[in-house]
Amino acid sequence: MAPGCVCVALCSVLLALFLIPSDWSSELMASRSAPVRLLTKQELRGYSGERGGPGLYLSILGQVFDVHSGDRHYGPGGAYHGMAGKDASLAFVTGDFTPAGLTDDVSALSPSQVLVLYDWLAFYQKDYKPVGRLIGRFYSERGRPTAALMQLESRRSEGLRLKAQVQAEREQFPACNSEWSAALGGRVWCSTKSGGIDRVWTGVPRKLYSPGSGRSRCVCVEDPTAAENPNMQEYQGCSPRAASCPLGGEEVG
Ligand code: HEM
Repeated sequence: MAPGCVCVALCSVLLALFLIPSDWSSELMASRSAPVRLLTKQELRGYSGERGGPGLYLSILGQVFDVHSGDRHYGPGGAYHGMAGKDASLAFVTGDFTPAGLTDDVSALSPSQVLVLYDWLAFYQKDYKPVGRLIGRFYSERGRPTAALMQLESRRSEGLRLKAQVQAEREQFPACNSEWSAALGGRVWCSTKSGGIDRVWTGVPRKLYSPGSGRSRCVCVEDPTAAENPNMQEYQGCSPRAASCPLGGEEVG
């Protein structure tokens, strides 16, 4: 091939890599430099750490890891041996290590449970060597993410959104301090560190009801004169501006 042709060929490859979305190009690069190993369920089953076997692997969310360095957990006789040689993603969340619980069917998990599962995945990515992908529920025969995995990813995004929302609410309305003794009775009060939220304001205690449940918890409100909150109530027998309220027979929320 003439040098000019080499340049044209090379330039079009570079241009193509430039034009296609970056995740595609990195996938292409990855598949060129180190093709991802794909395992079948049957193949993975062989890696359960039995004496004379080829090794000790487990899969989580379809990602296979070499866990032989954790032999005491996953090897024969280990507390988590049931997870070896298979994808038992559900058990990471439920703690159900019976044969029925050792399954990769995680379709019933809530968004916050899906976050727990991804935390486990991050643990394996940090502590163990990746081996490849398991063909099945999460990856196709060509190693592409399945619709089930993509659905799970969107549930994870929902989980992250809910978690951020809960954290924002905790910062807006931190929990009160509380104490109770038979001699003095109970009280709730606010401080600049109550609810584990370090802040510059102290706030005043209010009962915050969770809609529908009829249950309330004590939260500190920075400015109780701000927008009316229908789910919020003052403590009876306590000045609206007081930072500490006695509990006259009310439960510590
Ligand atoms: C959802 C429930 C649970 C799951 C999915 C789970 C899973 C695991 C896994 C996968 C490991 C091995 C981690 C590694 O590779 O280093 C582990 C270790 C361990 N787990 Fe659990 N576990 C659960 C509940 C519990 C409970 C309730 C206890 C205590 C009563 C416990 C005590 C331990 C201990 C002591 C270790 C060993 C830590 C070490 O030696 O490094 N686990 N767990």
